[in-house]
Amino acid sequence: MDSVAAPRRVVVSVRDIVKRFQRAGGSVTNAVDNVGFDLLAGEFLVLLGPSGCGKTTLLRTIAGLERPDGGTIEIDGRLCDSSENGVHVPTERRRLGMIFQSYALWPHMTVFDNVAYPLRSQRKHNKRDIADRVERVLTMVGIPELTKQYPGQMSGGQQQRVALARALVAGSDLVLFDEPLSNVDARVREQLRFELATMQRDLGFAAVYVTHDQSEAMGLAHRIAVMESGKIVQIGSPREIYDEAASRYVANFVGTSNEIRGRVQSVEPDGTASVTTVIGTFVGTLSKPDIAAGDEVILVWRPEDGEPSIEEPASSNRFRAVVEAALFLGSHTEYSIRVGESRFRLWRASRRQLSTDAEIWVTVDAASMRILRP
Ligand SMILES: Nc1ncnc2c1ncn2[C@@H]1O[C@H](COP(=O)(O)OP(=O)(O)OP(=O)(O)O)[C@@H](O)[C@H]1O
Ligand SMILES: [Mg+2]
Repeated sequence: MDSVAAPRRVVVSVRDIVKRFQRAGGSVTNAVDNVGFDLLAGEFLVLLGPSGCGKTTLLRTIAGLERPDGGTIEIDGRLCDSSENGVHVPTERRRLGMIFQSYALWPHMTVFDNVAYPLRSQRKHNKRDIADRVERVLTMVGIPELTKQYPGQMSGGQQQRVALARALVAGSDLVLFDEPLSNVDARVREQLRFELATMQRDLGFAAVYVTHDQSEAMGLAHRIAVMESGKIVQIGSPREIYDEAASRYVANFVGTSNEIRGRVQSVEPDGTASVTTVIGTFVGTLSKPDIAAGDEVILVWRPEDGEPSIEEPASSNRFRAVVEAALFLGSHTEYSIRVGESRFRLWRASRRQLSTDAEIWVTVDAASMRILRP
């Protein structure tokens, strides 16, 4: 998809942003702590992290609803925040759209009036102009026939389109989302997520999207920024974040993982290392180049990367385990397996059952074993 050779335009440039809040007792917390990234034209960036890690504060700072205590923000090449130079451009002059929880559509207004609202509040468009723009943007999001409906008379998908139309109507190519799907029930949410991703790719606006739901992040993002205590701890494509988690925190936040403690025996020039653990010695892939022989580390691997067999495999990187329990989950079955005192999880297509109490071999190849710092 990304076959464009020319470098893409930077829509938002965030540099060293700090935002502090005073707690009730008087102590100060860094809600956003030295964050920086570039958002490219047409890019969908997801801010992912647990409750309280600073996602909303960072988004509100980009929107101009919070004033940062340090750092700079540029939008479309224009300086919007610089605490050092006293620059702070108000939200309504940042040319961006916002979509919050459950879309926040006005229930007493028709679709037309909801979408026309940002244009009317700018006070620079006449009636004809507003009607043209609203019609155009509703056609863009695929609901030109719904102008006279009220939000309460529409499906979740239609409401999402109205919210998107309202965010885009004033001509911005940047939309900020704060957990818009969090009040929608699980089944509808998956459908809406799919539609949103499709519309974003088709219409081409750039997006910053906040969520604490990892599967939502995986499904929507071109890039995910994982946050912890006000900091971005890793930023990369969903695949990079999942397959090459840089820390235990990221590996555990994005998906399920198994862990074994160990000590590095030797490091190879190809970025692999041999690690001794209580269940044997394994070759894994280093998450950081500076991990050295003698270091205490953690081996992390995904439940789907363990390959079970009844026969002893010819390969190395294997251990012997007992199947303790099986949990049928439809498409796959989750097994709890035990090796001495250690327990791990293993996922397998349900068609290929393992029986409980069976003694099995499990092989995990070196590329799927990540060596992380404890
Ligand atoms: N107006 C405020 N005054 C004081 N502290 C605040 C304020 N807003 C946020 N905080 C604090 O800043 C930190 C980050 O909050 P924020 O709302 O950005 O988290 P979040 O990642 O969006 O969490 P959630 O997933 O629960 O929405 C929290 O410790 C919060 O208590
Ligand atoms: Mg929040």
